[in-house]
Amino acid sequence: MSNQHTNPYRPGAGHSPPHLAGRKPETKQFEEFLEQAEVTKNVILTGLRGVGKTVLMEDRYRPLAIQKKWAWVGSDFSESAFLSEERLCTRLITDLSVFTSSLSLTVSSDSFGFAQQDRLENRALDFDFLMTVYAATPGLSTDKLKAVLELVWSVADHKGIHGIIFAYDEAQVVTDREEKDEYPLAVLLETFQSLQRKGARYMLLLTGLPTLFPRLVESRTYAERMFHVQEIGRLNNKTSKEAILFPVKNQTWAFSNSAVDVIVNTADGYPYFIQFICRQAFDYLRANPEEDSIPIDPIVRQLDANFFSGRWEILTDRQRDLLYCVAQLPNAAEEFSISEIVDASKQLDGIKSFSSNDVSQAIPKLIDKGLIYRNRHGKYSFAVPLFAMFIQRHAQRKLIQQELLSDSRD
Ligand SMILES: Nc1ncnc2c1ncn2[C@@H]1O[C@H](COP(=O)(O)OP(=O)(O)OP(=O)(O)O)[C@@H](O)[C@H]1O
Ligand SMILES: [Mg+2]
Repeated sequence: MSNQHTNPYRPGAGHSPPHLAGRKPETKQFEEFLEQAEVTKNVILTGLRGVGKTVLMEDRYRPLAIQKKWAWVGSDFSESAFLSEERLCTRLITDLSVFTSSLSLTVSSDSFGFAQQDRLENRALDFDFLMTVYAATPGLSTDKLKAVLELVWSVADHKGIHGIIFAYDEAQVVTDREEKDEYPLAVLLETFQSLQRKGARYMLLLTGLPTLFPRLVESRTYAERMFHVQEIGRLNNKTSKEAILFPVKNQTWAFSNSAVDVIVNTADGYPYFIQFICRQAFDYLRANPEEDSIPIDPIVRQLDANFFSGRWEILTDRQRDLLYCVAQLPNAAEEFSISEIVDASKQLDGIKSFSSNDVSQAIPKLIDKGLIYRNRHGKYSFAVPLFAMFIQRHAQRKLIQQELLSDSRD
């Protein structure tokens, strides 16, 4: 419910925006994937932090899939769901059972070891039943999971649905762990690949950071053919303006053109930044109705404190130095290599230079912390948008503080 005083903007992880701007080509393409008579393509939705993956999936893809008669199964993968194959399978079955518990099957009661006497009975495909099928199937986790999903499909296929889509957010946390002999990712890919070959209309929609796709391909090379990757990025000028203006079109006031330009330029097309800046700007203009321009510097400072600082605080001093070197590169916002970081470190005052070995060792830790990722060309990029600019602002402020401090000592 919007009224004149309610701030409509929604900065936050997975918070539905008041107006979801752009993303029409991706949505249209996703709609086509939903029409596959035989599922040969699955979808990966990737992009940097805060670019709008979760809301695109939840607010656009989900209703569309449901409208096209798909059963929508899933949630987001927490790290623990992926520690082992067993946990992954249990997780998938838990989520699936929300849909299947309303379906039932006539079974002979001694199948799957249910009861002593042999008679036919109607069983709901609830969690317990599915897990019993899972446990009773011999073989590896893939065989067990496959048996459950095949059984479910044999029932669901007659219930007037087009297919079953498994949609998982934060899927980049999925990893095979050779040292533990646990291959949850391989289980996921193998199961879906095999079911799809047999004509069962199951589809995977995985959402996550850009590390996701390389990781899948590393697990099973055929993942390259199984998935279509939708990489979502920044909004363009027009859609950025829509994201800013549509939510306040019924207000008695409007953002001035220059205020809109400032927001567009500062947010640089990144949806989270648009929501954040607009939220602050809205409050400011409501409190200061005579004002026309918005105080962008303090708003950026708040943005730094809210969005970036937390990601900076978790770093060691040496990791910060390394990222500071990256931030100095002219190509910091695109991609960078180990040797470029080494070179930059030699040219910067006040930093102990890095050897390539130092950098190679530091990088996996920065990847684990979700700050950078390795792209398809073997180079690295920031996983957090506009991070290089934050690092520069941060360094600048530190310098000013130090100068003030030494002035006050003089
Ligand atoms: N197309 C859009 N138009 C307007 N606002 C958007 C759009 N997409 C996302 N947002 C807003 O941006 C913010 C981030 O969105 P979301 O959480 O979906 O990003 P994400 O890519 O899933 O981020 P993360 O990688 O951190 O999970 C939210 O506040 C959301 O309301
Ligand atoms: Mg998200």
